[in-house]
Amino acid sequence: MSVFEEKFFHDIVAFRKEPLKSSETALVFVWQGNDLSPAAARLDALSGGALSAWLAGHKAFKGKAGQDLLLPAPEESGFKQIFVFGLGKKETFDGAAAEAAGVKLSAALTRAALESVSVYTEDDGDRLSRENVIRLLIGAGLAAYRFDRYRMPGDKNGDQESESDAPSKVPLKRFDVLTDEKPAAEKLWAVAKAELAGIYLSRDLGNEPANILYPESYAEIIREELKPLGVQVEVLDEKKMQKLGMGGILGVGMGSDRFPRMVVMRWKGGKKSDKPVALVGKGVTFDTGGISIKPAAGMDEMKMDMCGSATVVGTMKTLALRKAKANVVGVVGLAENMPSARSYRPGDILTTYSGKTVEVLNTDAEGRLVLADALTYVQKTEKPEVIIDLATLTGAMMVALGYDYCGVFANNDDLWTEMERAGKASGEKIWRMPLDEIWRKDMVSGIADLQNLGKMGRYGGACTAAGFLEHFIEDGMPWAHMDVAGTAWVRSNKPHCIKGATGFGVRVLNRWIENRYEQ
Ligand code: BES
Ligand code: MN
Ligand code: ZN
Repeated sequence: MSVFEEKFFHDIVAFRKEPLKSSETALVFVWQGNDLSPAAARLDALSGGALSAWLAGHKAFKGKAGQDLLLPAPEESGFKQIFVFGLGKKETFDGAAAEAAGVKLSAALTRAALESVSVYTEDDGDRLSRENVIRLLIGAGLAAYRFDRYRMPGDKNGDQESESDAPSKVPLKRFDVLTDEKPAAEKLWAVAKAELAGIYLSRDLGNEPANILYPESYAEIIREELKPLGVQVEVLDEKKMQKLGMGGILGVGMGSDRFPRMVVMRWKGGKKSDKPVALVGKGVTFDTGGISIKPAAGMDEMKMDMCGSATVVGTMKTLALRKAKANVVGVVGLAENMPSARSYRPGDILTTYSGKTVEVLNTDAEGRLVLADALTYVQKTEKPEVIIDLATLTGAMMVALGYDYCGVFANNDDLWTEMERAGKASGEKIWRMPLDEIWRKDMVSGIADLQNLGKMGRYGGACTAAGFLEHFIEDGMPWAHMDVAGTAWVRSNKPHCIKGATGFGVRVLNRWIENRYEQ
């Protein structure tokens, strides 16, 4: 959901050449030091210099990033009011700064409770470029997200800092971006809008609690969301997986009354003869740790252990919405990791779909068992050209890189180079991590083919987990593993994202696919 009454920010945005007569507010951008953008300068001229006179006399407003000022508009302008918004330093204004400004703009619009806004965004040198305006809109869209499905209607401010006097839903109905190059702007916006819709879905899925979102219901939601968009959705239930011999995902799900599912999503926007890209996601709908149970404190957060899969689902939505010219198959392994009389135990030996056996040394290292079967399945049935998997796989990943960088383990330098480029362009931060036979060998068991725990215990935990997954990648298959444990979730409200799921990965994957197949 969104802070804007019943609509999403990305549904409110439109591009026009001229403002509508009914538009009440002109939004103009001002650089730090009250340097007027060309549009602001025009409005200033129209008002006989009233705008610059106002700004000159103002003690606090200096055009700093995120500062805003609401002024009455001159009669001749046709607007009721002018909303002046600071973008900060012009010299350093880039995509990232634009996105950050958009985040602040979202908060400012919320506070001001405006209804219809016309935004003047004339290209101001290369700083307020079309790309940067789109990034600004993305920032505003990201920040407008709320998860308020479970709140009383009168309490939908979504501001989880209790005792807030923030207004509830905001009446914004139109956000018109004025531009002379409508088609070019709309083309860029179509991609960004599809991304926002994919991120919103990914966040919603991540935020849903595990009593609502469990493998069976999750599979149904995926079907409902993606089928109408032209994505083929196939669901493997527990019987089918038993027949196939998927002992990894079934072993993890054994302790739960909610049976596992594997969902395959196919988007065929590319040439018929082209092999697909495979996106694989960990979808542990709740991770108690199983018999190797986790401590009580903070366990509620483990409803987020399906965020890798949610990013895959969100990305499929984005690709379908923007009708990507690429063949992409998504596979998500959905299971709930619970302790019970039927649970798998430490010491158990599971036979995975690949045929490789795994000695379970810790039932809390379950994600890799789910992924093993999903990775094998996608290679056997879809013959992909390249695979990227996403998983909230290890706490060790957070120890290594914290919350802002996602670690990427890639077995192919070209693939990593492509991903790095997509990361930079999309604003999602990724960092290469090492794969080494040291860790691959570290996962070999004394009595089975593999064990699910490294021999150094917690040390290098993200690397040993990746080393485990590598055993399930066929020789020569380009593959990258993204451990999103730190980046998939924010632990306290941030300006760009409320506490909860972030939808991390949708943007980097979408951009990577666009660069790879559609340039
Ligand atoms: N889902 C967790 C990893 C995780 C922890 C994600 C915290 C997000 C926040 C994963 O299944 C897990 O429990 N990993 C263990 C592995 C260990 C037993 C080898 C871990 O990281 O402690
Ligand atoms: Mn676990
Ligand atoms: Zn887990």
